Amino acid sequence: MPRSFVSFTDLTKEEVLQIIEYGKKLKKDKFLDQSLKGKSIGLIFMKQSTRTRLSFEVGVYQMGGQPIYISASSTQISRGEDIKDTARVMGRYLDGIVIRTFSHKEVEDLANYSGIPVINALTDYQHPCQVLADLMTITEVFGTLENKKIAYVGDGNNMANTLLLAAALMGMDISVATPPNYEPNGKAVLQAVEIAKQTGSKIEITNDPKKAVLEADVLYTDVWVSMGQEGDKDKKKLFEGFTINKDLVLLAKPEAVVMHCLPAHKGEEISEDVFEQYSDVIFNQAENRLHVQKALMSFLFKNQ
Ligand code: CP
Ligand code: NVA
Repeated sequence: MPRSFVSFTDLTKEEVLQIIEYGKKLKKDKFLDQSLKGKSIGLIFMKQSTRTRLSFEVGVYQMGGQPIYISASSTQISRGEDIKDTARVMGRYLDGIVIRTFSHKEVEDLANYSGIPVINALTDYQHPCQVLADLMTITEVFGTLENKKIAYVGDGNNMANTLLLAAALMGMDISVATPPNYEPNGKAVLQAVEIAKQTGSKIEITNDPKKAVLEADVLYTDVWVSMGQEGDKDKKKLFEGFTINKDLVLLAKPEAVVMHCLPAHKGEEISEDVFEQYSDVIFNQAENRLHVQKALMSFLFKNQ
């Protein structure tokens, strides 16, 4: 079975660093890598997207390939066709698949049954491409990932899960602060703790945002209500005190930066002034999606 990128931990630390370095090369020379020439890449989106769709479509084009955007409502999946059958059909036409959907298991099935490499472009459980771009951005800001601490403040969602796994894999420290009952996924926490035993990463899960940001180099947040969770109407009331604002930033290291995967709900998970103060870093994160995903596609799709 070819390699896929379904969970962040499908890559080794060395491969992540190699992909980030190659992403930086591609950032300087956008047509440098033509390894997708003659290849067709399916981009399946069962949820909305601005950045992910654009960065993958543009990326495949720049690498000489054909991106095929497939929206939720336009396929037989939306009429109940089995993901295993869809996978086996797609594997016969395409050279690679990028998928954004709800269920992580669906992406694992697609990778297991299609016979071609699959990239997870966000599930309810993880958003690994975003975190690759985030790590690339951190190396641009600080020159290294070594001895850096991330403080994630907000909902224990797909971003929190992936940042935990990535920090553990890369040997970074991470503290995740959420309101009670909104902690990150237990499976992700256990896996991160297990990996951290090998890499020396320090992991903390807390309900105290002020504690989480102490000694942090990076303050990270994401929306309080993720795609597909809009029904949880009373949730936002429970997040008081979990806004990344000036007071919270002052408790971190003086050189700390604030990051956000976007889209942002200013006034909720982040104050408008803090967002604007760190907008260069935040929009570099968004830009780096393009470069690092091209490096990832080269790594996974080149030999298809
Ligand atoms: N950050 C991110 O994945 O953005 P989109 O939902 O716009 O793709
Ligand atoms: N947690 C958010 C991330 C969006 C990029 C969501 O899943 O909607």
